[in-house]
Amino acid sequence: MPNALRQQGPSRRAVFAIAAAAATPSMAETIAGQRPAPSAAPPVYERVDVSLNVNGRDHRLNLDPRTALLDALREHLHLTGSKKGCDQGQCGACTVHIDGQRVLSCLTLAVAAAGRRITTIEGLAPADGALHPMQQAFIDHDAFQCGYCTPGQILSAVACVHEGHARTDAEIREYMSGNLCRCAAYPNIVAAIRQARTRMERA
Ligand code: FES
Ligand code: FES
Repeated sequence: MPNALRQQGPSRRAVFAIAAAAATPSMAETIAGQRPAPSAAPPVYERVDVSLNVNGRDHRLNLDPRTALLDALREHLHLTGSKKGCDQGQCGACTVHIDGQRVLSCLTLAVAAAGRRITTIEGLAPADGALHPMQQAFIDHDAFQCGYCTPGQILSAVACVHEGHARTDAEIREYMSGNLCRCAAYPNIVAAIRQARTRMERA
């Protein structure tokens, strides 16, 4: 590069020096709270052994203790039926059962589910190959379109019936309100739960 051009504007070294000075908060700025202090190294968590009983099978996992049950199911056990929608407890797509109660697996630590009975959509149907009455009812009533919310809807709906919160359409809507469906299959979902409730009560 000719010297005449090379000398136009600040050198590369000067540009880097200016950028570094701009990125480093001065002591006065840090004390005044205008700029955060340089962060410390992230904490290191020791992995822990966790025993999970999922759909009647025991699994031994070695996990970061912060692992959510949803991630343990999907990423470590490859049970991808439970869906990650919001990952913040807002949509219900990750609903599973623990000891028969519905829980949001995105907000549940895997270590907190250790030694308890976890049921996912993969383990809901009886072993004889028949569908659970709730699964059959969702098919009979076309209670899904894309199907992304459906595993969570079905797990929640089964618990809703067991809780005795499916006696009327209004009650079904109220107690299923934590399960969102972006395809808006709500009327069909209510009809499916009504059908399954009758069959589950007869069983
Ligand atoms: S993914 Fe758990 S509530 Fe949305
Ligand atoms: S069927 Fe598509 S989100 Fe519910």
